Formats: sequence, C-alpha cells, structure tokens
Amino acid sequence: MTDNRATATPAAENSDHGFIDSKDEDLILVLDFGSQTAQLITRRVRDQHVFCQLVRHDLSAERIREMKPKGLILSGGPSSVYAEGAPQPDPEIFNLGIPILGICYGMQLACRSQNSEIKPVETREFGRSSCRIVSAADLFGEIPEKLTVWMSHGDQVQELSDEFESLAATDSCTYAAVKHRTQPIYGLQFHPEVTHTEHGDRLLANFVRGICGCRGSWRISSLIDREVKLLRERVGSSRVICGLSGGVDSAVTAALLYKAIGPQLSCIFVDNGLLRKGESEAVEQEFTQHFRTDLHVSDARQQFLDELRDVTDPQKKRKIIGRVFIDVFRKEAESITDARFLAQGTLYPDVIESGANPDGPAATIKAHHNVGGLPEELGFELIEPLRDLFKDEVRRMGLELGLPEHLIWRHPFPGPGLAVRCLGAVSEPKLATLREADAILIEELRSAGLYRDIQQAFVVLLPVQSVGVMGDARTYEDAIAIRAVQTDDFMTADWYQFPHKVLARISTRIINEVRGVNRVVYDISSKPPSTIEWE
Ligand code: XMP
Repeated sequence: MTDNRATATPAAENSDHGFIDSKDEDLILVLDFGSQTAQLITRRVRDQHVFCQLVRHDLSAERIREMKPKGLILSGGPSSVYAEGAPQPDPEIFNLGIPILGICYGMQLACRSQNSEIKPVETREFGRSSCRIVSAADLFGEIPEKLTVWMSHGDQVQELSDEFESLAATDSCTYAAVKHRTQPIYGLQFHPEVTHTEHGDRLLANFVRGICGCRGSWRISSLIDREVKLLRERVGSSRVICGLSGGVDSAVTAALLYKAIGPQLSCIFVDNGLLRKGESEAVEQEFTQHFRTDLHVSDARQQFLDELRDVTDPQKKRKIIGRVFIDVFRKEAESITDARFLAQGTLYPDVIESGANPDGPAATIKAHHNVGGLPEELGFELIEPLRDLFKDEVRRMGLELGLPEHLIWRHPFPGPGLAVRCLGAVSEPKLATLREADAILIEELRSAGLYRDIQQAFVVLLPVQSVGVMGDARTYEDAIAIRAVQTDDFMTADWYQFPHKVLARISTRIINEVRGVNRVVYDISSKPPSTIEWE
C-alpha cells in the first residue's frame, strides 16, 4: 500500500479518483479535514442512497460549483481552526448557496467564517454526552428531544454570532448544534456518523434528503457504472494487470475491470502453496470459466517452501513471503510486455490500517503483507478502484458483478496464509494437515449455518505433541487449535460462543480424519490482548 494516512493528512488528498458528472445523480461532497471518520460520513450518506464523495478540504468553490453537489459536509479534523497552518476551505464555499453541514471541526470552521468565536474548552470532551434539542428545526425533525451523542473535541464555539441560532446543547457544550438564520449553514459539534450517536442516521437523512433535497435513488449499480466509465477513460486502450489473491477484494477489482475493459485485463495469481484447500483451483475456475480473463498462474509453491525452511519467527516469515511474492509477481508481470497499469484491491480500511505514522492512532501492529503491497518500482501506474469503499459496499458490488456468494462471504485470509497458522517452521506435511483440518472446520460451520455469524474462523497447528490413545496404541501426535471470532472491524474481537455440539463434532471429525492429529483445543481469548492470528 502506498498511501500514508497521517492524522492530519486528509485521505482525499491522495485520491486519484475522477468526479462524477452529477446531471443524473444527486451528489453530496464531504470536504476532508483529516478526521478518521471522514470516510464514515461518506458511507453513512451512501446508506441513505445518496451518492457521496470525499474530496480535498481545499477544493475550490469554482470546482465545487461545476460539480453541482446538492450539499457539502465539512468533516471533523485533528487541528484547531485558529492554529497556524490549520486546513481551511475556500472561503467562497459559504457564498455558494449550497447547504452546508459542518461536523465538529467543520462546524467550528463554518461558525468562524460567520464571525463566531472558537476557543479551547477547559475539559476536553470525549465520549457519550446527553444532548437536549432546543429547536426542533428541519435538522432535528423526527428526533426525540433528548438523545445521546458522541463528542470528541478540545475546542468549541464559545461565542455564537447573531447570525446563528442554537439548536441543541449538552451540559458542557452550549452550542452542540447550530443553524444560520438566513443561509442553509448548519453545524454539529458531535459526530452523527458514529453509531454511538443516537438517531445519527436520521440526522444525516434530514440533512441530505430534507435540507439538500436529494432523492435517495442511488444504488450500488450506479457506482459500478461510474467506476466502469472512469476506468475506461483512464485506461484507454492500455493493458492492466490485476493480482488475484483468492480474497474478495482482488476478485471484485478484477471483476470490475473485466466489465470495464474485458480483454485488456491480465490477471496474475501466485500460488504460494499457503492457501486453503481447493482455493487455487477455485480462483482458476472463476477467472477462466466465468470471467474469461487472461489468467497467468504462477506455481511458486516450492520456492516459498524453500525460502521458509527452518524459519520460525513470524515477522521473518511475513517478510520472506512478501519478498518472494514480489519476486514471483514481478517475473510474471514482465512476461506481460504491454501492461501499463497495475490494479490493486485496496479498500479504505487498508488505507487507515497501514497508516505509516508510527504515532498515529492506526499504528501498524504487524508487518502486514497483502497482495496490495506491491512496490512502486514495478513501474506501473496504480489503479485502486475500491479505495473509497468499505467492505460491505465491495461485497454488494461483487454480488452485482456476478461473483458467487461463497467467494463474496468468504472469511478474510491473511496474505502470509497458512504460514502464520503453522506455528514454528513451515513444511509441506504440516501445511497438508492444516488444509485438511481447516476444510473440516469450515464445512461444519457451513452445515451448522454458523459461517456467516462468525467473521473469521480457522485452525492453527500447534508446535506441540501430546499423548493419546487410539485403539490399543499409545499415540504421540500434533494438536490443533480452533480459532473463531466475532468482530465488526478486526481491530477488536470476541471469541465465538460455539454450541458445544458443533465443537464436539468438529473435534471428532478432525481427530478421526486428519492423520497425525490426536488433540483439538478451542482458543477462548479475545482481542485485545490476544490477536486473531497466533503469529
Ligand atoms: P490480528 O492477528 O492482527 O489480525 O488480530 C487482524 C486481521 O488481520 C489479518 N492479518 C493479516 N492479513 N497479512 C494480512 O493480509 C498479515 O500479515 C496479517 N496478519 C493478520 C487477520 O487474519 C485478521 O483478519
């Protein structure tokens, strides 16, 4: 991943996306002042079936006028509006007559532009606050008088200019929501986009549909049409390479490109031998029989095994796998001589999670290697058509593009694959054990109807032998740990409370059917402090 999302660097600055022509589509623009939730605002607006795009905070008023948005949302941000160098919008945006909703920092900017005074608060306010609505104007339509809101600020409006009226207050924030008396400018000191704010969706709907007059007719198919159009424009008659990993993101990227440019797409699939049972065959079948892409499969199983021999340190394994992957990929890509672009399935959460600012809130915990992690020296121009999207939007897009349900809903799988589930040194017999045991686990989850209740489940081969009895004989064999977690975002996770009958069946089947395993244990650790993977 090439994007570094430092706290104060708005993600939209790096977006190379084109803009839509909003003749057919209602458009809301979110001006990105660097908040970690700027993308979430975009997503919440899209949940209202209104197309929404995150753009640089300093996009000129002239350009905004050309794009004809129905409304502007100014995001939060980590700076103080009065600090030197704090990101500012083009002041002319307040004279466009387009409805504006400022959130947190965005509200402070809007109020300051209209002569209000912003100051630091004595006690910074983070977390839930009880909010009273004092004027149930349009923005608070159909919202109860009292609601819990999520605050996260160190500054606030101290003196509100006469041009504004107050709409809501909390105990420590007199101006929790405001409205300009004559212009369509609104401000919220709290964050309607986070789920901790009650009725946040209603609030955003009141703004985008009620105040801005958006129709709510946007669907994921419109996004596909838009991306296809942009891809065709950008790529022209050139060739694009897309790496397939077996996962959802790269598959959707490839399917989208296939729809846009068909025969100009070449896919590369590196078989590293570290995949789940049947996975490489499934990728081949999907991308040669369903989507008839020019698929290049590179069988590098032996090379990965050789390089991983005797390596036990997890981060070393990751580094080796990353390096070998790039090597193999590069060779394969060089054989496609007319390629100009490289497509990657980077999603917005990848952009946050790989934030290279070591002090930032998203400091990387593990040296993650994804197929997305190809270096710039490969010399291609990068295409990342999913980089503004959240996983659920990518899944909906994939289904609409005709990818099969089982692929779309497949649990995530780490780039280093089974190597980090084979604790200690990796070898082919151990990988074979993992593949078999993993396949049994997944089969049982599916047949018990639990697969979609759990966000990630897998087995780990422990580097211990233990004693058992089989028939009359004493055994001394491997132990398998089962890991199954429920999580919203993979940053925190709870271990799954399995029905005992299902666990019993999984254990019996693994011990009976997987040669060399005589013990199964269940991992009951949450994240934090434990991570999801064992290595
Ligand atoms: P952890 O173990 O950090 O995992 O709690 C969180 C999520 O990230 C996945 N993961 C990885 N993905 N390369 C990847 O592409 C990696 O090196 C890697 N390590 C962990 C893990 O499977 C889980 O979904």
